[in-house]
Amino acid sequence: MQIVHTLPALADALKPYRHPAVVPTMGNLHEGHLALVRQAKPLGDLTVATIFVNRLQFGPQDDFDTYPRTLAADCAQLEAAGCDLVFAPTEAEFYPEPQTFRIAPPAALTDVLEGEFRPGFFAGVCTVVLKLLSCTQARSAVFGKKDYQQLMVIRQMVRQFNLPIAIVGGETRRAADGLAMSSRNGYLSEAERAQARELHASLQAIAQAVRAGNTGYAALEAHAMESLRAKGWQPDYVAVRRQADLQAPHPGDALVVLAAARLGSTRLIDNFEI
Ligand code: PAJ
Repeated sequence: MQIVHTLPALADALKPYRHPAVVPTMGNLHEGHLALVRQAKPLGDLTVATIFVNRLQFGPQDDFDTYPRTLAADCAQLEAAGCDLVFAPTEAEFYPEPQTFRIAPPAALTDVLEGEFRPGFFAGVCTVVLKLLSCTQARSAVFGKKDYQQLMVIRQMVRQFNLPIAIVGGETRRAADGLAMSSRNGYLSEAERAQARELHASLQAIAQAVRAGNTGYAALEAHAMESLRAKGWQPDYVAVRRQADLQAPHPGDALVVLAAARLGSTRLIDNFEI
């Protein structure tokens, strides 16, 4: 496995290949990321992972400075997962001048759910993803359903710009108790970690009720928010939406239930397709 930190070295390493399959990450890798790498492997003639903590997608109160940076351990795991090439640029390399051109994703996708609570987040994500996919000459790229709205926003960006890149979704990897794996789980205290499964459990409860025919989504959402609050969480949202565009569901739509909530100072997100 080759590790490159600069754009010229990346271009050099890509030269012999025609179909790079790319997995963009911010590092501090876990089994969820590695599963995406394994999923990418048969999609191209070179499996590429990128590791870059993207300042543009962090708000002023967010954890940009403290976000875990564990490059050596990440590379060891990537190599074991079958990755061929890692692109891990510094900020100075990737943003040598202020990134004043930005992708502006449409409000209908970004003013809801994560977008409502993290202004500018999806503009930052789209901008870095466009740049990463371009620099790695991606012909396919794998993103996790864990970040459901992110996957949807990226799909639509790639479609509207006619980028010749297949966007593939990967299933969410979970710990044994159901907690979705996340780099941010490491922020949880032992007590919080024991409690963290409650987020996934509340989504499952909604999914079960909906499958049983309950269409009172607003009441289900309100009840889940209340019971999370009663257990000490600070939920931002619990929402039943249609899978296609994350708008309010109509009868017959395929549904997904999504949630974001803070436990102590750690903000966790999760979702469940119904
Ligand atoms: P990061 O949070 O590092 O996630 C990288 C990729 O791994 C994303 O596609 C995410 O959805 C996926 N992922 C995270 N946890 C997962 C899990 N438990 N199971 C399956 N996949 C999981 O998402 C980002 O980085 C950034 O926004 C990025 C797209 C790299 C742009 O900076």
